[in-house]
Amino acid sequence: MSDHAANAPSSSAPKSRTVSPDDPVPGVAHVVLVMSGKGGVGKSTTATNLALALSRSGYRTGLLDADIYGPSIPTMLGVTGRPVSTDGKTIEPLERFGLKMMSIGFLLEDPKAAVIWRGPMLTGALQQFLKDVAWGELDFLVLDLPPGTGDVALSLSQRLGVSGAVMVTTPQPVATDDVYKAVSMCRKVNIPILGIVENMSWFVDSAGVKHELFGKGGGQAVADFSEAPLLAQIPIDQSVREWGDKGTPVVQAAPDGEVGKAFMKLAEEVVTAVNAKADAGGDAGPVIDRSGGGGGRRRLPVSK
Ligand SMILES: Nc1ncnc2c1ncn2[C@@H]1O[C@H](COP(=O)(O)OP(=O)(O)OP(=O)(O)O)[C@@H](O)[C@H]1O
Ligand SMILES: [Mg+2]
Repeated sequence: MSDHAANAPSSSAPKSRTVSPDDPVPGVAHVVLVMSGKGGVGKSTTATNLALALSRSGYRTGLLDADIYGPSIPTMLGVTGRPVSTDGKTIEPLERFGLKMMSIGFLLEDPKAAVIWRGPMLTGALQQFLKDVAWGELDFLVLDLPPGTGDVALSLSQRLGVSGAVMVTTPQPVATDDVYKAVSMCRKVNIPILGIVENMSWFVDSAGVKHELFGKGGGQAVADFSEAPLLAQIPIDQSVREWGDKGTPVVQAAPDGEVGKAFMKLAEEVVTAVNAKADAGGDAGPVIDRSGGGGGRRRLPVSK
């Protein structure tokens, strides 16, 4: 209790993320999965900008690209180097914009080669990989998961105390149908849903007219189904893709733009959700704050 922030209510002792003896990342306070049952909805964009927004907000943050089928985070972060090992045992994460980063794609000799690892091989490799990376002490480790039904999340959750999942969807039913399956799977394995991100919610044209290209209401519908909050609605904005391709995520390139602000707000909401889960006696990990010193076992001053 000694390192609680002064504003932490004395009645709520900080919960610890369940760290089993073989937990691969014992120095990490919160593990947040960014996932969706659906491909191409913006998981990697969300994971990258969320991680960077957390880092810009003062949290020690790492980002793991766990998508061996299509690792995209090195491109989105403009990382060209390969990780190195200084002691022959652990791999040093790469760093960009103050964010620690690692991609399972670095394991591939040829990133353009087809990968035929099947589920169990992938999750085995992922767990080993998580363990081998010298993440050090982090407040947040954000995992960008591959698309699919969630077998990766499922087996990860058996070894790794996961704080919760951020579910990404787009507004239209053809996307939300798949996301419901991912939510149900998380329920089965007790991964809390921290909340929903609705991406590509609308597009504002040069005349300032808002177009809901993919319809509306999908994010809220998934939130209702999940009994979790709709954390953010991210508009379609050409700059998101352009900055992603250039290797400077939009939250870094234009933090004060509409999308940049939306991702900064998302980070705030994720911290609030993690604190709420901890308050509710869940497994979401310790409550934390960013006031410096003492690591990640304190409470964030949550803005109301
Ligand atoms: N809000 C947005 N506005 C404009 N472009 C976007 C937005 N969100 C994502 N994109 C673009 O859409 C494409 C797909 O996004 P992303 O790679 O993040 O999706 P994904 O869910 O990770 O895909 P996959 O299932 O293949 O892993 C990327 O080119 C990205 O830059
Ligand atoms: Mg992706």
